[in-house]
Amino acid sequence: AEIMKGRYDHFMQKEIYEQPESVVNTMRGRVNFDSRTIMLGGLKVYLPVIRRCRRLIFVACGTSYHSCIAARPVFEELTDIPVAVELASDFLDRRTPVFRDDVGIFVSQSGETADTILAMRYCLERGALCLGVVNAVGSTLSRETHSGVHINAGPEIGVASTKAYTSQYVALVMIAVQLSDDSIKKTARREQIIDGLHDIPEQIKKVLHMDKALQQLAKDMLSHEKSLLIMGRGYQYATCLEGALKIKEVSYMHSEGASLSCKRILAGELKHGPLALVDEHLPVIFIMTRDSLYPKVQSALAQVMARKGRPIILCNEDDLSIPESAKVIRVPKTVDCLQGLINVIPLQLLSYHLAVMNGVDVDFPRNLAKSVTTE
Ligand code: G6P
Repeated sequence: AEIMKGRYDHFMQKEIYEQPESVVNTMRGRVNFDSRTIMLGGLKVYLPVIRRCRRLIFVACGTSYHSCIAARPVFEELTDIPVAVELASDFLDRRTPVFRDDVGIFVSQSGETADTILAMRYCLERGALCLGVVNAVGSTLSRETHSGVHINAGPEIGVASTKAYTSQYVALVMIAVQLSDDSIKKTARREQIIDGLHDIPEQIKKVLHMDKALQQLAKDMLSHEKSLLIMGRGYQYATCLEGALKIKEVSYMHSEGASLSCKRILAGELKHGPLALVDEHLPVIFIMTRDSLYPKVQSALAQVMARKGRPIILCNEDDLSIPESAKVIRVPKTVDCLQGLINVIPLQLLSYHLAVMNGVDVDFPRNLAKSVTTE
C-alpha cells in the first residue's frame, strides 16, 4: 500500500490530486471537443425511451447522492424531464410509487451499497428502465442494471470519496448533454458546456496549486473551531453539502451545509436557524462564485457580516466586490453548471488538512466504511 501511495501521505490526498486525470478518463472517447458532441455508448439504444419517460429518479447514498444534487439543475434545463433525487434508504422506507415509464439512475462509486442495490431491484420489479453510474466495473449495480455509464475514475481507496464525486458529476453532465442532443434550441448551451468541460482539468490543477495556502487557512481559521457552516445556493447547494460531509467524515469537526436557496431559508430559516449560530466565533464558508444567484448570496452574506460573522468567501479570481475584511479563496471561473467541479476542490483540501491536524486516520475514519453493504 505504501508503494501505491507514491509521494503522497494518504490515499485521500493522492485521490484529490488525481482529479485532473480522473475527470479526463471519465470523458475519454466520449466527448468530442472538435465536433462538440458527446456519445455514451451504453445509453445509445435507450435514448428514445429515456427521452419519453415520465420522470428521472436519481438514487444514491452519501457523496454519490451529492453528485446527483449537483447535476439535477442541468438535467432539468437540458432535458425538460422532471427529476427526483432520492436517498436510497428514504426512497425504500417510503415505498415510493414507481412506474414502468420511469427511468431510475443509480449512482454509486462501489456499485455495492446495499440500499442503492435494493432500490434498484425495487425499480426493476416495477418495470422501470434502470441505469447505473458506477465506478467499480463488474459490481452488483453494473451487472444488474439494464445499462449505464462507468465513470472510469480508477480505484478509490480513501473512505472519504473525492475523485469519484467529480467523475460522477462529469458523467451525469455528459448524460444530460447527450439526452438533449435532439434539441436544436439547446445547441449553444450544449456547446458552451462541452467547451467548459474541456478546460476543467487545467482549472482543477490550478486550484490544487493553492494547497499550501489552504493548509495555512485550515490551521489559522478552522483547526481550533468546533463547528463550521458552509452556505450557498443553486448550483452550489450540492457543493455545500459535499464540503460539509467531507469535513465531518475525516476531521470529526461538526459542519453543516446550509442552502440559501428557498425563500423560507432566506426570509425565515436563515434568521431563526443558521443565523442564530452566527457570531464572531463561528466560521462560515460562503460559496459565491458568479452566477445568476450572486446578488441573493450577497444579501445573505450581508446578514451574516451584520452579526459579526467571520466569513471565508469562495469566489472567482477576478471578483472585485468582496468585502475587504473577509478571507477569500479564489478559484477559476467556468460555466455555471460546472462551477461545482472547481469549488469542491478547496473544500476537499481543507477537510484533508483538518483531518491531518486533528490526528485522524485519514483513509480510515472511525465508524465509517468505504462501502456499506448492509441495510
Ligand atoms: C459510504 C462511504 C461514502 C460513500 C457512500 C456511498 O458511506 O463512506 O464515501 O459516498 O458510502 O457509496 P457508493 O459506493 O454507493 O458511492
